[in-house]
Amino acid sequence: MILFTHPDEWKALRSKVFTSAGSVGYVPTMGALHAGHGSLIERAAKENEICVCSIFVNPTQFDRSNDLEAYPRTLSADIELAKRYGCDAIFAPGVNDIYGDKVESLRADYGFLTETLEGAERPGHFDGVVTIVRLLLDAIQADKAYFGEKDFQQLAIIRELVRREQIPTEIMPCTLIRDTDGLAMSSRNVRLSPQGRQNALAIYRTLKEMAERATKVDPQMVQHWGQRHLEQQPGVELEYLSVVYADDFQEASDWSREVRALVAAWVDGVRLIDNMALN
Ligand code: PAF
Repeated sequence: MILFTHPDEWKALRSKVFTSAGSVGYVPTMGALHAGHGSLIERAAKENEICVCSIFVNPTQFDRSNDLEAYPRTLSADIELAKRYGCDAIFAPGVNDIYGDKVESLRADYGFLTETLEGAERPGHFDGVVTIVRLLLDAIQADKAYFGEKDFQQLAIIRELVRREQIPTEIMPCTLIRDTDGLAMSSRNVRLSPQGRQNALAIYRTLKEMAERATKVDPQMVQHWGQRHLEQQPGVELEYLSVVYADDFQEASDWSREVRALVAAWVDGVRLIDNMALN
């Protein structure tokens, strides 16, 4: 396992160490790796000759400074996990290695896609995500980059970034991974108390029940049912629950295209997001 911290080191590694290598699969992360990341790394390792994973808690995508401070940082455990799933190299830059002395994001305005849901609730968040993903993709120059569908809106925005800027890396969407109890895997889950974790399961149960109701009634009725239901669950503070078309995030009014429910809720002071295809 090779560990490097600066984009220039990667250029040297590619020309000196990974000389005969074919395709590079890349998994960008913010660390605190769990089995969900493991599944991305495993797939990237299987589908490519070299698998690179980055671990960088990107300050510009946090809209609350306490969230950035509380974000778990577990580099040595991350390295072990990445190795176990077949990662060949870890890119763990410091803030200066990435941003130099100007730690700021550029505005990313993709219209409705960046304005709705997470964009509305977390001002500046997608500016930070687009800025860092652009920098990371440029640094690694991978053939394929793997992103989880848990951040469903982020994934759509990254695809749009790559399309608009003709970045020569193929974006590979990967299914959301759940724990055995149904909770969507997230680095933030470690901050939940045992009771909080039990409360958070209401999110998964609500989405599942919404999927069972789907197609029998119209999408907005399913949305209203889900909102009312989740609002009544103890310990869960609903931020949004929206039923939208998966391709453009507009409010769904029929079942003619793929429809997804996307949710953000607070449990134990931890912001959780989740989503599920309804049809
Ligand atoms: O999904 C994440 O972990 C982050 O948003 C990403 C894509 C690594 C950018 O910091």
